[in-house]
Amino acid sequence: MVKISSSLKFICAEALYFLVRFFDNPYRTCRKFMQRKKAADIYIYGETPIKTLQKLLVAADLKIGERYVELGSGRGIGCLWASSHIGCVATGVEWVPRFVFFAKCIAWLTCIPVRFVKMSFFEFDCSDADVVYLYGIHLTDLEWSALLPKLESMPPGSRLIIISEPIAHPQFVPLASIAVDFPWGRTEAFVLKKQVQLAQKNPICHNLCENTGHYETKIRPSSHRTKMAKNLETKESI
Ligand SMILES: C[S@@+](CC[C@H](N)C(=O)[O-])C[C@H]1O[C@@H](n2cnc3c(N)ncnc32)[C@H](O)[C@@H]1O
Repeated sequence: MVKISSSLKFICAEALYFLVRFFDNPYRTCRKFMQRKKAADIYIYGETPIKTLQKLLVAADLKIGERYVELGSGRGIGCLWASSHIGCVATGVEWVPRFVFFAKCIAWLTCIPVRFVKMSFFEFDCSDADVVYLYGIHLTDLEWSALLPKLESMPPGSRLIIISEPIAHPQFVPLASIAVDFPWGRTEAFVLKKQVQLAQKNPICHNLCENTGHYETKIRPSSHRTKMAKNLETKESI
């Protein structure tokens, strides 16, 4: 019975998102926001399909009552799904005001308890998160370095999910590496577990710098990502 009502709530949320899409294309909204910010990479928007998110959250073993944080939650669909289907305490962190506004309205209308915070995730405190999801293939090495102190504050035993490239960091050990599908193709996702003690160098994090012992992140060449997002935006606006 509880399951049916959660599914119904999420179906209502999807219907509302469908209506909002008539006058708000998220790809365009995000691109315009990034243009106003004078960002170098303005094509950063993308969405995690629900099936993919489900696979990721199962791999991260997100349980009922645990705290789930999505850094860069976009329109907030993932948080609404996690809250309604898993029963976790979900928080979406997003800096595009319009996304946060609609996500809050839809959460309120469908009675799905999710907190949406309008701020940059570089400032968000992750110290009480159990699972953090970051679909941030647009992040540069510099941005990763700025974000890492926040991720380092995650409690021991918490899990971090990232897409496409693993981070190599002594406090995070890989739990799983899984193939997942996105609208632009298949890629690898990584689930890492926060440790207290230093982890051994591991095989799937190839980019721990041998000389300095510091982490390094490899990201897709931005020209590739820009092309990918442009294609998507064109497809989406048709
Ligand atoms: C690739 S989309 C992912 C959306 C959603 N997490 C999903 O998987 O469906 C990245 C999102 O992160 C947001 N974002 C990027 N940098 C951010 C930052 N510094 N603070 C907050 N949100 C950010 C973007 O506005 C965008 O909505």
